[in-house]
Amino acid sequence: MQSIVKKRSTTQTPSFLPIQVDSLRLDKILYFDVYIHTGKEVVLYRAKSLPFTEKSRAKLIENSIVTIYISYESREAYQQYIEEHLPEILADPKVAEIKKAAILYDTSKALVKELMANPTYSENVRRSQDLVESTISYILKGRDAFLNLMKITSFDYYTYTHSVNVCTFSISLARQIGITDKDALVNLGTGALLHDVGKSKVPERILNKRTSLNRSEFEIMKKHPNWGSDILRETDIISEESYYPVLQHHERIDGSGYPLGVDERDMHPFSKVVAVVDVFDALTTERVYQPAIDTYPALRMMHGQDGCFDAVLLREFTVLMGPESPLNKY
Ligand SMILES: [Fe+2]
Ligand SMILES: [Fe+2]
Repeated sequence: MQSIVKKRSTTQTPSFLPIQVDSLRLDKILYFDVYIHTGKEVVLYRAKSLPFTEKSRAKLIENSIVTIYISYESREAYQQYIEEHLPEILADPKVAEIKKAAILYDTSKALVKELMANPTYSENVRRSQDLVESTISYILKGRDAFLNLMKITSFDYYTYTHSVNVCTFSISLARQIGITDKDALVNLGTGALLHDVGKSKVPERILNKRTSLNRSEFEIMKKHPNWGSDILRETDIISEESYYPVLQHHERIDGSGYPLGVDERDMHPFSKVVAVVDVFDALTTERVYQPAIDTYPALRMMHGQDGCFDAVLLREFTVLMGPESPLNKY
């Protein structure tokens, strides 16, 4: 789901959210009212509990309307509708691939946002596994699918966008190194999507601090891998393998990480994958205290951090980011 319509004119109010026409399934009952913007005002187009028909869609196309709106209050009903129909949307040849990527990304973002607000609600954790499965089916379509996801990736840092980025990058890197087993990819993807869930317990003033953290604040921040693992143990839904990236994504190959300072011998292969993409995403997204770095300078910087990352994974991740990368000569 995209951000709230900003109040730029008297005809746009902040109480509506734009959605894609392509996200609505034909002949399926809507769980929410659908509105259109006439140029002057927002008016009701299709009431909830009615199916969205071919006729309703044709009328929109006829009038060149691609963006429709739902009320802010019905965003949860929309989220539920999309999650239920996501596999159909992703398999629909009539929906453009870039739109599929946008719908997948927005749906994942909205779910992680909910999850961070209510991390011990087991239904949210279960939903995140379904979403990871849809993400895997999408990514397994090939490199174009990955590139589409890259195009719509948000480079503004929020824990929820970061979590979605880390999930898609992790699945793509796993595929790049030849992991094709569906269960393994689901376990890795789930751990990657939930890797920072422990940040829901870090006080906001530390999480959003505009300057670097002092020693005591950093000590609190360093607890988030353990907190994340504890939160997920409470719901007891994810597989044992999914806990590793949550607990170990800040550990380093040479033992210089946290919380335990274990080295490569005790790091799970999934943790090594998430460790690489977590740092990459943090470097390449805009933070309150630090501007975003471009892809290749970020990778170069990581190649320079001797002993921190698994060398093969870092090399393969560099290859994944583009054949044109100068770092492919490494
Ligand atoms: Fe983290
Ligand atoms: Fe992270």
